[in-house]
Amino acid sequence: MFTQIACLLLYVQVSLGAATSGSLLSSPTTVSPSTHSSSTASITISVPTSTATPNPGGASFPPVGSITRNFSPTGLDQLWNVVGPVESPPFTTTVEPQTPVILPSPPPTLYPSFYANRPKDILSDYKYPKGFIFGLDTAAYQVEGATKEEGKGPSMWDWASRQPGAIADNSTADIADLQYYLYKEDVARVAALGVKAHSFSISWARILPFGTADSPVNQQGIDHYADLIQYHLKSGVEPIATLFHWDTPLALQAYYGGFTSGQIVDDFVHYAKTVFAAYNGTVKTWFTFNEPRVFCGQVASYPFNITYAPGVNTSTAPYQCSYNLIHAHAGAVKAFREMNIVGEIAFKSDDFVGTPWRKNTTDDAAAVERHGAFQIGVFADPIYTTGDWPTILKDTLPPEYLPRFTEEEKREILGSADFFAIDAYRSQYISAPDEGLDACLSNGPSDPEWPQCNTIREFDSNAMWAVGASADVGAPWLQDTSRFFRDAMKEIHRRWPTQKIYVTEFGFAQPFENERTELYRIKEDTDRTNYLMSYLGEMLLSIHEDHIPIMGAFIWSMVDNAEWGQGLSTRFGVQYVNYTTLERTYKRSALALSEFFEAHLQ
Ligand code: BGC
Repeated sequence: MFTQIACLLLYVQVSLGAATSGSLLSSPTTVSPSTHSSSTASITISVPTSTATPNPGGASFPPVGSITRNFSPTGLDQLWNVVGPVESPPFTTTVEPQTPVILPSPPPTLYPSFYANRPKDILSDYKYPKGFIFGLDTAAYQVEGATKEEGKGPSMWDWASRQPGAIADNSTADIADLQYYLYKEDVARVAALGVKAHSFSISWARILPFGTADSPVNQQGIDHYADLIQYHLKSGVEPIATLFHWDTPLALQAYYGGFTSGQIVDDFVHYAKTVFAAYNGTVKTWFTFNEPRVFCGQVASYPFNITYAPGVNTSTAPYQCSYNLIHAHAGAVKAFREMNIVGEIAFKSDDFVGTPWRKNTTDDAAAVERHGAFQIGVFADPIYTTGDWPTILKDTLPPEYLPRFTEEEKREILGSADFFAIDAYRSQYISAPDEGLDACLSNGPSDPEWPQCNTIREFDSNAMWAVGASADVGAPWLQDTSRFFRDAMKEIHRRWPTQKIYVTEFGFAQPFENERTELYRIKEDTDRTNYLMSYLGEMLLSIHEDHIPIMGAFIWSMVDNAEWGQGLSTRFGVQYVNYTTLERTYKRSALALSEFFEAHLQ
């Protein structure tokens, strides 16, 4: 039995995680074969002393609407005061890297060839199609640091990372990788590996510190990304830009509640237009939103759950957010097309449809349908196939939760993406909830599994074998499920057919990596390497044997970075970052990727 504090602790820790944040929209219950492990970490629940809105977790934020629009330096200071003191970076100019970057000699083979191939020898009869993109991912908040430099406004994550108990290791991303000033080194290092593209995100609050359509553009922010894009092009690394990777300008949350208010739509479209105009012709592949489902789940979680527009509450927030966000997406894509921006645009879906846990159980089959609808269909159905929410969502959620679209809105939303993008880290078994599907549905909001009414099972129903090797404890949602990849992609392509799919994120947190101190141990990221090589081999089979039109693979992540609610201590990078010296080191996985793609790209 959890005590109340333990429950709160669990909630706090899970709520800011990435791919499966706990909230109504974001994640059904996950059941592991063991009993839930109890956490030994402790949390201090502090009593807020300011006049700002307090909540039981101890976070505080000015009442939404209480800060008036003041686009002067004083107004900006007022916003930064909501965040509090920020750590300054050790230097504030862009570093010129030493080039050419010399790769270290390749690591010794991991296993004898009778057990596993070297990366270059994996499925050596198969190549990726011409034009296939091999890329690495980052996101602004997670890597840039320099959080208060060059005119940037605060984002909601600058604020969230300071709220009591919000970040597992109490770190902030004030400095993180300092990629803001070290991007040239990062680009040069991945170019040396043979990486063809970098999928990064632009910080809205750097372009528009106050966020709104009527507020001033920060020219330093515009110039920064212009330089960064040019450096990519010069280095032969294609720049691929995401407009929004969860870092809402704090101003917009303070003025009207961010994505829980319909006011966000025009402001986002204005921001998108500003960015499109600035970088048209240099960036050719664009994403509006990263994983909107996870983002709207986060909005419902601590500490964001005290920052809502009037009339919105924790239960309705994810759906109000989804409704506003999808309009913002469609509006931005409409602008992209009207402005004749060169290139292609989509958004990044995430997660998986799932496999029934028990064969021949109609409830588990129905639970899989629910999982697919809530996790991917929520945005993919309206945008790719119907213009409308999945029927399962409409049947479950009344309009007070999930606002309905008009016919005109449906027409604007349908077709607002040029290709499919999926952050496909894993795929797992799905069952009906323990109480049964019908019971869950008829219990309604009083049932902890409602509205999804499905359960993720990380082990099979026969002998309780795990779906795959587990990642680090900081990413409890992640197992190496590469063996399910082909089925997962078939299901995605069958439900939301498109001419082209990019697998826009996948990656692995090597267990115990952060506990290791010697560099030679850290560099030996065997589980991550196994995950990536297995996964990329399955991708070759998916393309050649299942004829799934995958044309890009992007690995999360280029460098270790700030893993949201887990902070800096959960590491996803194929390069190690020493957060004291900011030095980067290639791990085995980086060199394995280099060898693999050298042999498999044409
Ligand atoms: C997100 C990243 C995150 C990664 C690992 C993805 O869901 O887009 O920002 O760091 O998962 O959790």
